[in-house]
Amino acid sequence: MLQHIAIIMDGNGRWAEARGLPRTRGHEAGSQQISVIAKAAGELGVKVLTLYAFSTENWKRPLSEVNFLMRLITRYSSEKLPEMMENGIRLRTIGRISALPAAARRSVEKTIAATANNDRITLNLALNYGGRAEIVDAVNSLLKSDRKKGKVTEEELQRHLYAPDLPEPDLLIRTGGEFRISNFLLWQISYTELYVSDVCWPDFGAEELRQAVEAFTQRQRRFGGLGKS
Ligand code: FPP
Repeated sequence: MLQHIAIIMDGNGRWAEARGLPRTRGHEAGSQQISVIAKAAGELGVKVLTLYAFSTENWKRPLSEVNFLMRLITRYSSEKLPEMMENGIRLRTIGRISALPAAARRSVEKTIAATANNDRITLNLALNYGGRAEIVDAVNSLLKSDRKKGKVTEEELQRHLYAPDLPEPDLLIRTGGEFRISNFLLWQISYTELYVSDVCWPDFGAEELRQAVEAFTQRQRRFGGLGKS
């Protein structure tokens, strides 16, 4: 059963450049695709959709592009609220949200609160997210916690990650054709099936998602064993 799909939404810039448009137009088109995929995933019975919207490394992009992405995040989280309510979408985030510009943070937090009781699908946006940062934050949270002395276990560290209640992704999709993890969900993807699509994110629609899910259902997952339970 496919409970959790994670997606590295890559190729916005290339999509735009191929059309002679500025890169920001690719991000804009890409933000519209989020609703399409969240709705399609909900219809497929997926319970969690984690999308890599802004990484800890994305601050290195030109300031104008960073600002544009922040405005898009702000706009998306307020404008799409009615649609999220209609489709039973619960918004959550992972990442160092406190470092986002105040307007973006406030808008996202408002929608998180407003959608808290929706239960068809959780749209989990990775914002100012890095897989290494998450592990470091988990270690620091653990050190601050009131714990008994003794060796740290995987289970204990896991409880200090950003969203310990969410199941690990069954399937990780990367759009835009490149074979990289780019510091995404390093802890959680140990046994996740990987799928790379050549399609750039703004063109990745319900049919492409269906193909990825179809490919996933053909795989035999063994979790390190022999797969003969
Ligand atoms: C990668 O494309 C994409 C990103 C760095 C950001 C993803 C953001 C969105 C889809 C839209 C904004 C998000 C929300 C939540 C509204 P790229 O620019 O690296 O593409 P390239 O590899 O073709 O240059």
